[in-house]
Parts: sequence; structure tokens; C-alpha cells
Amino acid sequence: MDTSQPHPARRYNYWLGGKDHFQADRDSAAMIEQMMPTVSVAAKEGRKFHGRAVKHLAEAGVRQFLDIGTGLPAPNNTHEVAQGVDPTARVVYVDNDPLVLVHARALLRGTPQGRTAYLDADLRRPDTILRSPEVFATLDLDEPVALLLVAVMHFILDDDGPYELVRHLLDALPAGSCLVVSNATTDFMPPEQLAIVEAANARAERREDRVRLRSQAEVERFFDGLDLVPPGVCSVADWRPADPQAPRPTPAEVCALGGVAFLSR
Ligand SMILES: C[S@@+](CC[C@H](N)C(=O)[O-])C[C@H]1O[C@@H](n2cnc3c(N)ncnc32)[C@H](O)[C@@H]1O
Repeated sequence: MDTSQPHPARRYNYWLGGKDHFQADRDSAAMIEQMMPTVSVAAKEGRKFHGRAVKHLAEAGVRQFLDIGTGLPAPNNTHEVAQGVDPTARVVYVDNDPLVLVHARALLRGTPQGRTAYLDADLRRPDTILRSPEVFATLDLDEPVALLLVAVMHFILDDDGPYELVRHLLDALPAGSCLVVSNATTDFMPPEQLAIVEAANARAERREDRVRLRSQAEVERFFDGLDLVPPGVCSVADWRPADPQAPRPTPAEVCALGGVAFLSR
């Protein structure tokens, strides 16, 4: 594990208020905060969106979850939320950060009736996920599965084929399965902030330091042909908030769009 280079999971952990980050992650977080001062609010709202989406699906009867881009363990991990609704829920976590692997045991503490597994794999190689022993042993791919891609698609660049990757994963799942996606967006950024983000992307030496922020139309494209759960794709803070009357950050503060949809085929 190279701790001299920043990594998204550790940076995200820093913004969420966790303890699993190194100097390189904090330096990189500070650089991003200059471009987007509300990024820590955005991370926290993204995490809450994840929890609400999993709870919504579990309450709708979904019992299996494939959570790719898991991140470091944090309150309301997928199995905690899903098994809180039904203790028999099953979860496979997937991430490509070795530090997440180190902490995976914390992700595996599910209920005795349910099952959780962890797989060290890359979203850009979906067959290594779909054909893994972890997926085979944990999920029944003849029954609906929720594919969670929360706050991970912005690390998938255009030449990785983001839409094809999502489609490939969905093609392996039966009707009644669902997709959860959130992606950082440029939609609410003033032009000067957008220019800073673009310059940072152009400067980034390592591919993994680049991000692909997406517009509303580009995020909606992940859900082509699927039945979106109301209210559709929107700011993650506005997706079925727990208390609609309570104040929440504006779309410009959050700068992330998300949605949840079912496969009806
Ligand atoms: C911002 S965190 C999101 C964590 C979690 N999904 C959540 O919503 O709280 C993004 C995670 O995606 C992982 N990641 C980035 N690129 C990936 C890839 N190509 N394959 C698998 N995981 C990836 C990072 O390691 C990190 O843990």
C-alpha cells in the first residue's frame, strides 16, 4: 500500500470525519477544497443518499446488494442498513483500494442469517466481479440484485467506457434488479470554478487523480431504459430526504447528482 499517494477512499474518509487517512490524502483533500469549499458537505450528503437508497430498496423487498466502490467502513454500511430491514439480506462489497481490503473484516460483520463478502477488484473489469467466487457464493443472480455505484462513477473516465460498464453489469442481473448511481456534477458550478476543476484534471499526472464530473443528462444516461424511482435524478441531498421540511444543502453546495431505478425487462 503506497501511502505517499492520495487515494479516493481515504480522502472521502477524511471528509466524512473518519480516521483512516494519511498526509498525502489530506493534502489532496485540501487542494480539492480550494476548488470546491463545500466538498465535505457533499461527501456527507453523498453518504446519506447511499443510506436512504439502500433503505428504500430493502423496504421495497430487495435482498441482495452488489456495492462497488464501497469505501472505507463508515456508519450505515450497506449491510447494516439492509440487514436492519431484513437480517437475511446479502451484500458483496467491491473496491480497488488496498486500504479498504485491510478494513474489510469490519465490512463482514453481518447478521448470522444474512451474508456479506468482500472482493478486491476493479469496476473497470466487470467480469472479474461477476465471475468471482465471492459473488457466486453470496448472491443468487437469478434473484433481484441492487447494483450500487455510489460516488464511484466520477473515477471512471470516458475512455473506460462508463456506460458500457454499467450496462454489462446490469445485463448479468434479472428483472426486478435495480441501479443506484451518484456522480459529482458540474451543473451548479460557476464558470470560474469549472475552469479550476478542468485545469486540475489537465494537470493530474496519475490517471486515478482525474475525475469525470457529469451533467444531469450524462447521469440520466446511466439509467436509460430503466424505471426511475421518483423524483428521478436530482441533487443527492434532494433524493427522498428523511425529513423534507428540514433545511438541507443546496444543489450548488452538494454538486452531486444521484438516482435509483429498477430494471423492468
Ligand atoms: C468516494 S468513495 C465512495 C464510498 C461509498 N460508495 C459511499 O458512497 O459512501 C469511492 C470509492 O470508490 C473506489 N474506487 C474508485 N475507483 C474504483 C474502481 N475503478 N474500482 C473499484 N473501486 C473504485 C475508491 O477506492 C473509493 O473507496
